[in-house]
Amino acid sequence: MPDTAITDLDALESRISADIAAAADLAALDAIRVSALGKKGEVSLKMRELGKMSPEERQTMGPALNGLRDRLNTALEARKASLEDDALNLALARETVDVTRPAAHRRPGKLHPVSQVMEELAVIFADMGFKVAEGPDVEDDFHNFTALNFPPDHPARDTHDTFFMEAADGDTPKVLRTHTSPVQIRTMMSEQPPIRIIAPGRVYRCDWDQTHTPMFHQVEGLVIDKETHMGHLKGCLEQFVAAFFETSDVEARFRPHHFPFTEPSAEMDVRYERVGDAVKVGSGDKWMEILGCGMVHPNVIEACGLDPEEYQGFAFGMGVDRLAMLKYGMSDLRPFFEPDTRWSAHYGFSPLLQANLATGLS
Ligand code: DAH
Repeated sequence: MPDTAITDLDALESRISADIAAAADLAALDAIRVSALGKKGEVSLKMRELGKMSPEERQTMGPALNGLRDRLNTALEARKASLEDDALNLALARETVDVTRPAAHRRPGKLHPVSQVMEELAVIFADMGFKVAEGPDVEDDFHNFTALNFPPDHPARDTHDTFFMEAADGDTPKVLRTHTSPVQIRTMMSEQPPIRIIAPGRVYRCDWDQTHTPMFHQVEGLVIDKETHMGHLKGCLEQFVAAFFETSDVEARFRPHHFPFTEPSAEMDVRYERVGDAVKVGSGDKWMEILGCGMVHPNVIEACGLDPEEYQGFAFGMGVDRLAMLKYGMSDLRPFFEPDTRWSAHYGFSPLLQANLATGLS
């Protein structure tokens, strides 16, 4: 009888082992464990019968059943580990992100009007031989004021509503740049004339209302050469305004003004008229100031290590946000900096259409 019992055990073992190997998932595997080794499992029931056996029978069947139980346990563990590995690999494969895959819902974002205008500026001035220069947002007093011929303690420093930053021990105090003009200084100190740059970027002033935000955007322009004069400045800026507002009949005027870093200095006005809510730039009976400009002050050229007897040039600066408001008809500056997608869907630009002079800027 023990022989047939052992043969039965062998058959049982091969059946259960085959089931284990074929278990498709962890739930199926656990069901096999319960039906073999659970309280009422086939192997457990057989072990319970040991008590009723004769001592001789028990001597063969005991170790045989124990061995069977141990081998099944080992097989169950191994299959469990392999199923868990498979599950993990499957999850990893399913969760990989294919960054090259096109978006399921084609809702491309919009280019912010400030980015659009900055691109338009770069295109217009590149056509006139200017390159784009950059400088840091966190500036020092020298580049933001002193080298630009702001006298120490002069009230002009206050009119800029400067954000002063605390200096670390032994460090020179820093400011958030109040204008893009410090890029003039950085360029003149690092490059030899002839220089033709524009410098678009963020600037900061402590101010907040419908037309002022503590961070806004300017673009600076600088030309330094040996024979540059006011006529070049006027021609360059008139060409810019016509290109930017996409009209041929822009009438502009230059009004004397004061900036510490230019002499003479001027503000440029353009004619405009209101058509309904919109502002039409170029013609009309009103004048609107759009930028500051002038011939670079000899003190500024000298502060940058160039000889003002040899070199001269002109500079200009204007608000990019304001240009965007004028051209695209927004009346409030604050939403420019609020994350409202309805605003950007309305005022934004297609990111796929590159501004260019041949087929139109916008
Ligand atoms: N930096 C001036 C400002 O923020 C703007 C400006 C005026 C820049 C005249 C210039 C300039 O380069 O020539 O108000």
